Amino acid sequence: MRFDVLTLFPEIFSGYTGQSLLKRAIENRLIDVQLHDIRAYSHDKHNTVDDRPYGGGPGMVLCPEPVVESIEAVQAMPPRPGRLVLLTPGGRRLTQQVVEQLAEEERLTLVCGRYEGFDQRIIDLLEPDEISIGDYILGGGEVAAMVIIDAVARLIPGVLGDEQSNQTDSFSQPDGMLEYPQYTRPRVYRGLEVPEILLSGNHPEIARWRAEQSLLRTRQRRADLLPDTRQTSTKNQPNQTKS
Ligand code: ADE
Repeated sequence: MRFDVLTLFPEIFSGYTGQSLLKRAIENRLIDVQLHDIRAYSHDKHNTVDDRPYGGGPGMVLCPEPVVESIEAVQAMPPRPGRLVLLTPGGRRLTQQVVEQLAEEERLTLVCGRYEGFDQRIIDLLEPDEISIGDYILGGGEVAAMVIIDAVARLIPGVLGDEQSNQTDSFSQPDGMLEYPQYTRPRVYRGLEVPEILLSGNHPEIARWRAEQSLLRTRQRRADLLPDTRQTSTKNQPNQTKS
């Protein structure tokens, strides 16, 4: 999968793409991350990319010319144009389902905003898929683009060392529930013991316990993820998860 990222701050990405999981995926040619500087497409000698909003108001707005032209230049690069994604707090909310849709693409073009946002004509002309990573305002779309790259890359076969682990993670479980609690050595830590069942070697029982824990945890923390029939209150049930 190829990711093209258009940004005013390409250098922000180098530390991130140079770290273990992404680095290995890039080295193994499972993903390719190409960074493009929007400022290189500005029209004047001061490299201007933003201006004051018509009608007044605070902040600066990204001008249409450098943004549209940088996107067009990137989309013209072979092999074929990628799905165009604009990172903006006003977009549709990123969920694991959206991540799964994006992972089906061969190429994604991610455009990061800064300042007060994009001139509306960029959106009207190019009709991008506008995506928000949550209901809060970031300083720019770069962190949001990294979130998308991270979440999508780990769905690409071969990117995770252990192919199973993205199937049992919260939100990627077949039933969309949160993950059960996990333990590793030591067996006792500061007086807290690993649940006996996990040491039993009885795998059908372990699977049953984990399924119960997933359901309990989801009811307690994220009842909105459960189908209506499973949203029964947990008020009278012991809190077994504690984590
Ligand atoms: N840019 C600023 N805030 C954002 C958000 N929450 N999601 C995506 N892009 C953004």
